[in-house]
Amino acid sequence: MGESGSSWAERLSAASVDGFVTALDRQGRMDVVRATREWVRARLAIGPGSTVIDVGCGTGDELGELTRLVAPGGRAIGLDLNPPMAHVARRRLSRAEGVLVAAGEATALPVPDGAVDAVVCERVLQHLGQEPADAVREYARAVRGDGIVALTDSDWSSLEIRVDDDERATRRLLDVRARVRLPFTANQGAGGRLGDYLEAAGLTVLDRRATVLTDFAPELVQGVAAGVNASAAQALSASDLADVRSTVDDALARGALRIAVPFHAVVARR
Ligand SMILES: C[S@@+](CC[C@H](N)C(=O)[O-])C[C@H]1O[C@@H](n2cnc3c(N)ncnc32)[C@H](O)[C@@H]1O
Repeated sequence: MGESGSSWAERLSAASVDGFVTALDRQGRMDVVRATREWVRARLAIGPGSTVIDVGCGTGDELGELTRLVAPGGRAIGLDLNPPMAHVARRRLSRAEGVLVAAGEATALPVPDGAVDAVVCERVLQHLGQEPADAVREYARAVRGDGIVALTDSDWSSLEIRVDDDERATRRLLDVRARVRLPFTANQGAGGRLGDYLEAAGLTVLDRRATVLTDFAPELVQGVAAGVNASAAQALSASDLADVRSTVDDALARGALRIAVPFHAVVARR
């Protein structure tokens, strides 16, 4: 199991998928996310005729790019645990050729051993209810000899929070951050351990990229703040919680809440 079992990303209903899609669309426009995807694509060693799997493909944003990369004649397979999310990806890519989207589990890829040229997995290991290393072993099984496995993930265990021009508020939030678990990630430190997972699966690490996500849209900052608040509700006294909430609300209202999250990508060969 992951550090605290399954996370919210695994329990999407048809009704709750819309908000998640909106958040993923915002994240997909972030400069660091886009640049990291390009960096990964340049290292997949795939082209026309190749087969690639995007595990936890979400809305199919990157799956669309991968589909273009393997055309003509190739196959891009998107897999997502949540059927409503797989439905979104399928709908958005309905005109693309050579793409297949299925609902399924990262630890049980629907392909025989060594059947694919590359496996891509972005911001999924942090949400897994299972041990991330188990999923990565499954990716190693699915990829052919010399094939590539590329992992990208955030390291929420190293989340930095700052309130512009307010030392006291910054210290208050950092203190709370140190004491609470974020509810939207089951494996908070997954991003910092990608190389370990790949090596434990018997793969050879070829390249690493470490950047920091900072250009969060205000709505995404609010999402993180809501997560901290929700966790704090279990960990703090009522008066401490009220203080934290007003600190966050005030910082948000002034546009002064800054967050920074390390973002890692590691590419390995079988
Ligand atoms: C943060 S989103 C990332 C989506 C996409 N990879 C991207 O970067 O935009 C995480 C996705 O992983 C999916 N997911 C979570 N646990 C999974 C699992 N065990 N197997 C497959 N997909 C999973 C969620 O449904 C969600 O769509």
